[in-house]
This record gives sequence, structure tokens and C-alpha cells, in this order.
Amino acid sequence: GKVRAPTHIISTISDDRGDEPCYAGVPMSTIIQRGFGVGDVISLLWFKRSLPRYCTQFIEICIMLCADHGPCVSGAHNTIVTARAGKDLVSSLVSGLLTIGPRFGGAIDDAARYFKDACDRGLTPYEFVEGMKKKGIRVPGIGHRIKSRDNRDKRVQLLQHYAHTHFPSVKYMEYAVQVEAYTLSKANNLVLNVDGAIGSLFLDLLAGSGMFSKQEIDEIVEIGYLNGLFVLARSIGLIGHTFDQKRLKQPLYRHPWEDVLYTK
Ligand code: ACO
Ligand code: LMR
Repeated sequence: GKVRAPTHIISTISDDRGDEPCYAGVPMSTIIQRGFGVGDVISLLWFKRSLPRYCTQFIEICIMLCADHGPCVSGAHNTIVTARAGKDLVSSLVSGLLTIGPRFGGAIDDAARYFKDACDRGLTPYEFVEGMKKKGIRVPGIGHRIKSRDNRDKRVQLLQHYAHTHFPSVKYMEYAVQVEAYTLSKANNLVLNVDGAIGSLFLDLLAGSGMFSKQEIDEIVEIGYLNGLFVLARSIGLIGHTFDQKRLKQPLYRHPWEDVLYTK
């Protein structure tokens, strides 16, 4: 029989060897002819399957809603400072991206992990939140610097409305909302934030679409695919901020002394 030389790389998501590139086996011409969008491309390249339209539209909504949140947030601030230091597009972009993490934009995977575990184990919001407090861990997906009970995050409301209208089940999101009700009883700014909304709703998407086995869902949550949505989305805004600063010919940024507390 044939002897196959061992390869140094295994790849399963795309193939460029034929007449046209294929994403998860789907040729580019099919992607274009069928009018696929970026949500479909993400489905193919990240999840290795075509997902129903309501799922790909949800992915696209996440991307659009998270594309930017003004110049003052961590990521945009870094990008602006870097662009003003005369650095190139990629440097300015990655400087902003590097702020994405457990406090800013990168709490989606942990929100999904903790909400899933708590909900599957049947913990009450009280048990869950107080258990996290005992462990000294802030609840990922809860809390915001400027959003609060009386100034809700419109993005969260839009995601919730979409899911209520299109998803067969919003079990995990409803659990996250119960957690929010409890955390709001402690402090006004402990709202369900956009990371928590996406984390919980993506669990509902994975579980409700019937397209993923239980094992596959566990793997997606464990590996941590979902911060990728924020990274991808916010890159759009960070690239925009870079162009904006260059267009405005902004000089080197230096933080004002008056805004620093110099102390021993
Ligand atoms: N869970 C439990 N308690 C919390 C949480 C939380 N998620 N967030 C704040 N608190 C409480 C704590 O008691 C905290 O006191 P501590 O510093 O002793 O822990 C107190 O509120 C005040 O916290 P601050 O640091 O003043 O709150 P701040 O407004 O700076 O924090 C932040 C906002 C970073 C988002 C915070 O709520 C947090 O860490 N949340 C979890 C991570 C998260 O979801 N990040 C994504 C935010 S959305 C986005 O970035 C797109
Ligand atoms: C964002 O999307 O960047 C925000 O939710 C974070 C912030 O501090 O406003």
C-alpha cells in the first residue's frame, strides 16, 4: 500500500490547493454565489460548519455591536497613543488589542465558563455570586465602569431582544439575568455587561441550534473561542482610530502632569 510521509502540520479549516480556496470544504465561489456574510465565514473557519441564518446573524450583530465604544476605553486609548507616537497601522492595532483581557472585552469566555458551570449545577444566583466572592473572583460578565441599573447598556438589550425573538431557548441568558438581579441588589453598576451577554447567549446558541454535541460545546467553552468575537470586532474600531489620528495629524501624546498624583 501507499506509505504517507509524516507531516509537520495538520490543518482542518481551509484548503488553497485547488482552483479556488475552500473554507471548511465550501468553495469560495459557493460562498459568494450564496450571498454568505462574515457570520457564515466565521462559522466555517471557527466552527467548521455552516450554521443557520439566525446564528450567523447573531454573530454579525455581536461583531457590529462591539466594533467600537469611543476613544476613552482601554483599547482605543492605547491605539490612539501608539498612532500619535508615529507608529504604523499594525503596531497601533495590536497595542489596542493587547488591552483586551479579563477586565476589558476579554471576559466573554470566562463568563460562558462560569455561567455554564453554575447554571448546569443548579446553583442559585446567591450561591454562585457568594461562592465567587469567597474565592476572591469577580463574576466575569458582570459590572461596568459607566453603565448601571439606570443607564443600561443598549448593546446588551439589543442582543437580548434578538435572542428572545430568534433563539429556541435562552436558558443561560435568563440565568445570567437572574445573577444580574442579585448583583444589582449589591451595587448599581453590577449590571450584566456586553461580555456577559455574549457569553451567556453564545451558550444558548451552541446548545439550542442542535448543531453541536455536548462534547463539542464543552470543548468550545474550554478552549475559549468567544473572546475572538470581541478581538475581531474591536479590530474594526481600532483600525478606525488609527486612521483618525493620522488624518488629524495628531502630535505625540504626553499625559498632563496635573493628572498624575505624584506621591511617595
Ligand atoms: N463581580 C463581583 N464584584 C464586582 C464585580 C464583579 N464582576 N465588579 C465590581 N465588583 C465590586 C467589587 O466589590 C469591587 O471591589 P473590589 O475592588 O474590592 O473587588 C467593587 O465592585 C468596585 O469595583 P471597581 O473596580 O471600582 O469597578 P470598576 O467600575 O472599576 O470595574 C469592571 C469595572 C472592570 C468591568 C469590573 O466590574 C469587572 O472586573 N467585571 C468583571 C470583568 C468583566 O466582565 N469585564 C468586561 C466588562 S465589559 C467590556 O469590557 C466590553
Ligand atoms: C467597551 O465596549 O469598550 C466598553 O464596554 C468598555 C467601557 O469601559 O466602556
